[in-house]
Amino acid sequence: MSRLVIISNRVAVPKARGAAGAQGGLAGALNSALKKFGGIWFGWSGEESSETTGHIQLQTDDGVTTATIDLSETDIEEYYNGYANSTLWPLFHYRLDLTEYENETGRGYERVNETFANSVAPLIDPDDLIWVHDYHLLPLGERLRSHGAKNRIGFFLHTPWPPARLFVSLPYHERLVRTMLEYDVIGFQTGEWLGSFLHYCEKELGAEVDESTGRIAFEDKETFARAYPIGVDWDHIQTQGKTKEAKNAEQRVIDSTRNRIAMIGVDRLDYSKGLPERIDGISRFFDQNPDRTRDLVFIQIAPPSREDVDSYQKIRAELEQKTGQINGARSEVDLVPIRYVNKGHSLAELCGFYRASKICLVTPLRDGMNLVAKEYVAAQDPEDPGVLILSQFAGAAHQLTEAVLVNPHSPDNLARAIRTALDMPLEERKRRYEALVKTVREDDIHGWTNNFMRDLRELGAQ
Ligand code: F6P
Repeated sequence: MSRLVIISNRVAVPKARGAAGAQGGLAGALNSALKKFGGIWFGWSGEESSETTGHIQLQTDDGVTTATIDLSETDIEEYYNGYANSTLWPLFHYRLDLTEYENETGRGYERVNETFANSVAPLIDPDDLIWVHDYHLLPLGERLRSHGAKNRIGFFLHTPWPPARLFVSLPYHERLVRTMLEYDVIGFQTGEWLGSFLHYCEKELGAEVDESTGRIAFEDKETFARAYPIGVDWDHIQTQGKTKEAKNAEQRVIDSTRNRIAMIGVDRLDYSKGLPERIDGISRFFDQNPDRTRDLVFIQIAPPSREDVDSYQKIRAELEQKTGQINGARSEVDLVPIRYVNKGHSLAELCGFYRASKICLVTPLRDGMNLVAKEYVAAQDPEDPGVLILSQFAGAAHQLTEAVLVNPHSPDNLARAIRTALDMPLEERKRRYEALVKTVREDDIHGWTNNFMRDLRELGAQ
């Protein structure tokens, strides 16, 4: 059986990361795939060194071998803070207003991709399957090929892929996509992002595209692009939800909210998550329902993210200002309507918080998938489930159609959805929950890994 080599910007060993949201599920799935197939996980250590030497630190922990390299300050600035998070991330989330078009950082991005390829190449055996993740490493497949890798190489994009009319605003867009066609299989979260990519390949690149199979033929190359919606680790959430840590966390919310209903949001502090818009919607709800002010407590967990990037500093300041404003205007001596928490929490704690919260707000302006939505469903009490309010612009909305779907840009729409959720009878909550749970459970993280690995092995292989 072939070994698996996973390559991503960060190497996420679950024990090492307590961040909120999806990280635990993805890290867990990739770790279990690595345990099953054997192999290594390669990426940036997250550490800065005086220069990028490409020197590998190898570590084996619980049957999984990780190989990491440090990056220099300039590389981190140009590759991670720069091209990946100030150019590609905003562009891929349809935010041309925040996208920086600096060729300088583009060169740093290409340089670090080459460093990754150069460092990992000696660790790759001819029969290994290689699986590259995310927008930090779009050209890595092509770089690996230039180092002689003839392996099957797959790529999965965790973010949206923008419509062609937006993507062409990127200088050298064609060069970037040409490098991606060196992958054997390219995975997207939803048919929408996949459609945008195929459309670009056909209309802008002039590739031959077969939409029914996802086959892209371009010059002498053949690639398959398909949608593989990522899921959560259902069993792991059930186990974590039963731990003492989860029970304590649940009790903390129940005790501290007493007769009020807890409504929760869990997001990295990122402008794509629609956090200020969410606060506007809550504020509108309070304006329109003065009699319900004392019924509701909103808990927003928002661990800071990418703090050296300008747009992230701005969104944090904006959120702090809005939260402070609404709390100042609406608090009573015994009531603070919004609890704003900048800390990350373990999955067990989140399961407890989710269970104690009768409403969950997942309202990104644009999101590849959003696993918080799925985690919330998986953590509910089937006898008294809460209500998921979900943005129509999250990838998850394609699957979780029984959530209360909203337009996160509209404060009125959000306010109405909160009212609907608060008033929803138990019977309807259960009916919606059962439909949601079916999807979350059936399309879990293991199915995602297996489907991608199957296609990587088989699609177009001679
Ligand atoms: O899903 C997008 C993503 O960049 C993941 O690759 C990453 O694990 C997560 O967001 C957190 O971002 P960062 O590694 O920049 O903290």
